[in-house]
Amino acid sequence: MCGIIGYIGKKQAYPILINGLKRLEYRGYDSAGVAVFNGDVHVYKRKGKVQDLIDFAKGKNIRGTMGIGHTRWATHGKPDDVNAHPHTSGNGRLTLIHNGIIENYALLQEALKKEGHTFESETDTEVLVHFIEELQKRDNLPIEEAVRVALSKVVGAYAIVVIDRDDPGKLVAARKASPLVIGIGEDEFFIASDPTPIAEFTQKVVFLNDEEIAVVTRGGDLQIKTIDNEIQTPFIQELDVKIEAMEKGGYEYFMLKEIYEQPKTVADCMRGRINATEGWIKVGGVDTCKDRIFDANRFIIAACGTSWHAGLIGEYLFEELARIPVEVEYASELRYRNPIINEKDVVIALSQSGETADTLAALELAKAKGALCYGIVNNVGSSIARMTHAGSYIHAGPEIGVASTKAFTGQLTLLSMMAIHLGYERGTIPRSYYLQLLEELENIPGKIETLLEKASDQIEYIAGEIKDASNALYLGRGYNFPIALEGALKLKEISYIHAEGYPAAEMKHGPIALIDENMPVIVIATNKSAYEKIVSNVQEVKARKGKIISIVKEGDTVIRNLSDYTIEIPDTDEPLTPLLSVVPLQLLSYQIALMRGCNVDQPRNLAKSVTVE
Ligand code: AGP
Ligand code: GLU
Repeated sequence: MCGIIGYIGKKQAYPILINGLKRLEYRGYDSAGVAVFNGDVHVYKRKGKVQDLIDFAKGKNIRGTMGIGHTRWATHGKPDDVNAHPHTSGNGRLTLIHNGIIENYALLQEALKKEGHTFESETDTEVLVHFIEELQKRDNLPIEEAVRVALSKVVGAYAIVVIDRDDPGKLVAARKASPLVIGIGEDEFFIASDPTPIAEFTQKVVFLNDEEIAVVTRGGDLQIKTIDNEIQTPFIQELDVKIEAMEKGGYEYFMLKEIYEQPKTVADCMRGRINATEGWIKVGGVDTCKDRIFDANRFIIAACGTSWHAGLIGEYLFEELARIPVEVEYASELRYRNPIINEKDVVIALSQSGETADTLAALELAKAKGALCYGIVNNVGSSIARMTHAGSYIHAGPEIGVASTKAFTGQLTLLSMMAIHLGYERGTIPRSYYLQLLEELENIPGKIETLLEKASDQIEYIAGEIKDASNALYLGRGYNFPIALEGALKLKEISYIHAEGYPAAEMKHGPIALIDENMPVIVIATNKSAYEKIVSNVQEVKARKGKIISIVKEGDTVIRNLSDYTIEIPDTDEPLTPLLSVVPLQLLSYQIALMRGCNVDQPRNLAKSVTVE
C-alpha cells in the first residue's frame, strides 16, 4: 500500500504535502512525488524516499495552495522516476495519485491505445487517469462525473485524488478497499490515507466509505456521492490523535519508541475495562452481542502476520479459559478455500491497521455466510472497524514502525480480557482464579517496565554475539509457541536473517538436523506446565552444540545452567506469559537489525499495512 495526501486551502501546499508524506512514509516507500497547482500543475517525483524527493525539489520554489502527494509501494512497474506518482493524463489536463490495484487495467489500456493514447509508465495508475480523461473528453463531463463514470467500470482497489487543471478550485477523491480520510479545517481541506498527516491541522475528519466520491472545493464545501450518484451526508468525527504520538520522542527509531511504550499502551488497552479490586471486566464490544458470542459453536480468528500470531495465542486463551472451540486462519487462505461458516460462528478479525486486504476479504466472506463478525483493531475508523458487527479498539496509538510491537501486546491484552471475562461468565473458571488473573493483568504494565529496565543491557550484549548469524531457530511450548513464531518474524523482517519458529517438541521431527555451533537457538522456556519437557528440549539442542539463548522466569537456574546466554523475565500466570516473553524478542531483533545497519522502521520490501493482495 502507499501514502496519499492532498491539500486545498490558503496555505502553501508544498510544505504540507512533504511533511504529510514524511508521516505517511511508513506505509510504503519505494518512490515519492507531489503535484502543486499554480496556474498550471507542476509535478516533481523521484525513486527513493521522501528525502530524495526533497533533495530533488530543493531550490525549485514550489508555490501554490492546492496539491497532491504520494509515497509508492509498487505493484505494477518497478520503482523508478517514471512509475512514481502523480501520473498525468495524455492531454496533460488531469493529475492523479492512487493507492491500490486496477485489476482490469490491461483491458482498459488496450481500448485506450486504440483511441490513440500512449503511456509513459508501466503502472495501472496511469491507465486510470487516461481512462478518466477519455470519458471526460467524450462526454464533456465535469471532473467529478468523469471520475464517477470511470470508477463504475474499474475492477480493483483504489484510493485516488485527482486535480483537473481546467477546474482548479477543487480536489476529487474516491475510495474502494483502500483507506481515505478527509480533514476539515478552517477554509481548507486535507485528504490522506490515514489521519496522521491531518491531526496537526484539524481533528475534524470524515472517513470515506467504499465506493464514495468526495469533492472538496476552495471556499469550504465538501460534497460526497456514491458511485451510483446518490448524495451522502458527511459523517464528521473528532480524532483523538496527538502530535507527540506521531513523533519519535527522542528515540532513534519509532520501533524502539513503540517497544518502550508498551507499559503505557497495555495499560491504556485495559483502562476502563477491568478493575481487580472490585472484580469486574467490561469489554464493550462483547456486551453488545453477548448472546451470539456466548452461544457460538466456535470462534474463527482471521488475521495476517503478527496479528495471526496473536490469534494463535487467542486460541490457547479462549480454549483454556472459556472452553470455546477456536480455529485460527490465515485470512489469505480462509478467503479462498470456500470454508464452512454459518450463523453459529463468531469470526474475529485481528488487525492493527484495520485495512489489510486479505483480512477485509475474509471478513466479507464470513459476513456473507451469516457469522457474527468481531473486529479487534488499532486504527480508529479503519475499514475493518467499520464493517464488523461489533468490536474493540486496542488503543495502542499510531504504530509507525513497520514491525508490529505495541499493537501485538495490545491485541494480546484484549484477547486475555475477553477470554477471562467469557471464562468467568460461562463458569469455566472459578471466581478465585478470575480475580487472580485480573490482579495479575493489572500488574503486567509494571512488569514490562521492570523487564525493559533490567534486561535491555543483556539483550544488547546477546545481539552483538549473534548478529552475524545466517539463520536462527526459535522454540517454545504452549503459550510460548506462537511467541517463538513472532520472535522469528521480528528477526527476519527487520534484520533479514532467516529465522524459523517451531513448537519445541517438534524440533526432533526435522529442524534438529539444522543445529550446530553456528545456529543460535532462542528458547522461550518460561513454562510452568511441561517445564521438564522444555528442559529436555534445551538439552537436545545443547547435545548438538547449538548456541542457546534462553528466556526464563526470574530465578530459574536449571535452564540458565544449560544456556550460553539467558534473559530473565518476571514471573506471571501462564496465560499472561506472552505479554512478557515477547518483549525481549522484540528488543533483540531491534538491536540486531541496528547492528546490521538495517532500516529498522522501514525494512526493505515491506509496508506497514498490506492493502493489496
Ligand atoms: C508484523 O510485524 C508485520 N508488519 C506484518 O506481519 C503485519 O502484522 C501484517 O501485515 C498484518 O497487519 P495488520 O495487523 O495491520 O492487519
Ligand atoms: N498500483 C499502483 C502502482 O503500482 C499503486 C501502488 C500503491 O498503492 O502504492 O503504482
